[in-house]
Amino acid sequence: MGPAKSALAAALLVSASAFAQDIVLPDGKAKKLVENTCTECHGLDNVVNATLSGAQWRETVHDMVKRGATLSKDDIDTVVDYLTVYFAQEKVNVNTASAVELQSSLELTSAEADAIVNHRKENGKIKDIEALRKVAGLNGKKIDAKKDVLTF
Ligand code: HEC
Repeated sequence: MGPAKSALAAALLVSASAFAQDIVLPDGKAKKLVENTCTECHGLDNVVNATLSGAQWRETVHDMVKRGATLSKDDIDTVVDYLTVYFAQEKVNVNTASAVELQSSLELTSAEADAIVNHRKENGKIKDIEALRKVAGLNGKKIDAKKDVLTF
């Protein structure tokens, strides 16, 4: 690793630990494991900002172990259970969810949730994420942030 690269790596490590200090995880059996293991390569922001279902958390933790996260078999299960309880987001069907569901699960304002419901009433089924982004009154960035939990 050249000097420029190692300076970059050091800067990344500093920013990762700064994130770790800001984010407080909920109490639970795997809190310490996640704090210690899941900050080796990136900040906890990666963990708390992920929009994954329970099944996707299981896949992701196994993926992290493949990448080098050091967790025993038992620890993997403990971590997956913990992340599923506190951070799993179940899928939201954009075409059948109520305005209240859309608002809370997609972190929208009530006006944005209403825009989706009205669009459905007037134009029928929303086909995919492209079509959803085009609904007047919606913020494309907010929609993209939730792309993993959307179904149509
Ligand atoms: C050995 C290094 C390493 C460790 C340890 C590690 N990760 Fe990661 N993680 C990565 C890398 C590299 C990426 C970026 C992958 C990518 O861009 O596709 C990533 C990305 C992620 C993402 C975002 C990917 C997505 O699908 O949204 C999540 C969530 C995540 N890690 C969770 C965890 C959790 C939970 C742990 C602790 C069990 C953990 N990571 C430990 C290397 C690691």
